[in-house]
Amino acid sequence: MKRKYVWIYSSYAVAAIVVGLCFFVNRWRTAQRHAYVPEDLSAEYAAWGIDADGMKEFVALPVHLPYNPIASRLGIDMFTSKKMGPYSRSCVSCHPQSGGGADGRRHSGVFTRPAYNAVFGKYYLHDGSISNFPDLVRCMIEDTRFIGAGSLSNAVARLNADGRIRKRFETHYGDGNFVGTNLVDSIVNFSRTLMTANGPFDRFCGGRDALDAERLAGFEQFKARRCARCHSGPSLGTRVVTEDGVRVPSLRGLSKRGIYQANGSLYSDLAAAVAMMPGSDFEDDDKSRLSLLAFLRCL
Ligand code: HEC
Ligand code: HEC
Repeated sequence: MKRKYVWIYSSYAVAAIVVGLCFFVNRWRTAQRHAYVPEDLSAEYAAWGIDADGMKEFVALPVHLPYNPIASRLGIDMFTSKKMGPYSRSCVSCHPQSGGGADGRRHSGVFTRPAYNAVFGKYYLHDGSISNFPDLVRCMIEDTRFIGAGSLSNAVARLNADGRIRKRFETHYGDGNFVGTNLVDSIVNFSRTLMTANGPFDRFCGGRDALDAERLAGFEQFKARRCARCHSGPSLGTRVVTEDGVRVPSLRGLSKRGIYQANGSLYSDLAAAVAMMPGSDFEDDDKSRLSLLAFLRCL
């Protein structure tokens, strides 16, 4: 063969090898990115007093979290008080008990997320821009989309007009200590009682009860379709912010709510919201779709 052709063929071969390598490296990297490695939550579980039996991926919500009962009592009254901000809104106006802790509406374009089980969150707000619970409560009090007090000290100044509220705060936190951080502390303590423990899935995870056959099949679907890649941890969500900057919401208490958001749209039908999720490519007559829904409704 002429020398010239040897050169041409060998450069083809080298190019083919390089392209092939790139292809496989890319495949491998994509697989790595989408691989689901359960997070090690043991330290957080210990802090919450959850008996996680080593490191379990799915856990029961604890029946009781430590909280201060007097602060929590104050917190209930603050949660229901319309005096914190200028718009006569209380936390309960948007987080009613009846809707599973959310009113099913949008406020300034943002869909309300439930107040129940929120203490287990890792990232808060729809974009995950807050990463601890007291800061979230502070944001709810200050931000004009929510209570709208502008600042914690404004909220305290408004509440201070009611001598009884000030007195109760000072009795508990000490004279002169009716300040913003203690206002937040009272609501944080109350929020530690807002839990939906002891549901069918909690009893199942705690080894106290079996799931019925349909829900169990649904749980198998949930695992097989790798929903827990995003919906993980005690509240089955709130631990991941997607590449589009959307915080993955909790799946707890879905059946009590009745309005869901997927792809930024609201659905009153859980099946329609689930159909928007990655991994929910079901056949039309698929029984597994129904069992997955039955499982989701028992969370
Ligand atoms: C005007 C309605 C409104 C009021 C008043 C309001 N919230 Fe919210 N709340 C929302 C909305 C909307 C969201 C969702 C925000 C988001 O995803 O960015 C939310 C989210 C939450 C969450 C869940 C956060 C998460 O990311 O999962 C908690 C907990 C919460 N609010 C507590 C409170 C507390 C405590 C108060 C009173 C201090 C309060 N809210 C007042 C509308 C309101
Ligand atoms: C890649 C991450 C990811 C995976 C995988 C995923 N989800 Fe989601 N899920 C989300 C995000 C993000 C939202 C919020 C979407 C929005 O706000 O528009 C959501 C919302 C939901 C909602 C609506 C919750 C509500 O309260 O509004 C349900 C129900 C749900 N997912 C179920 C599932 C099921 C079932 C699976 C498995 C078949 C699954 N998801 C897989 C990220 C994911």
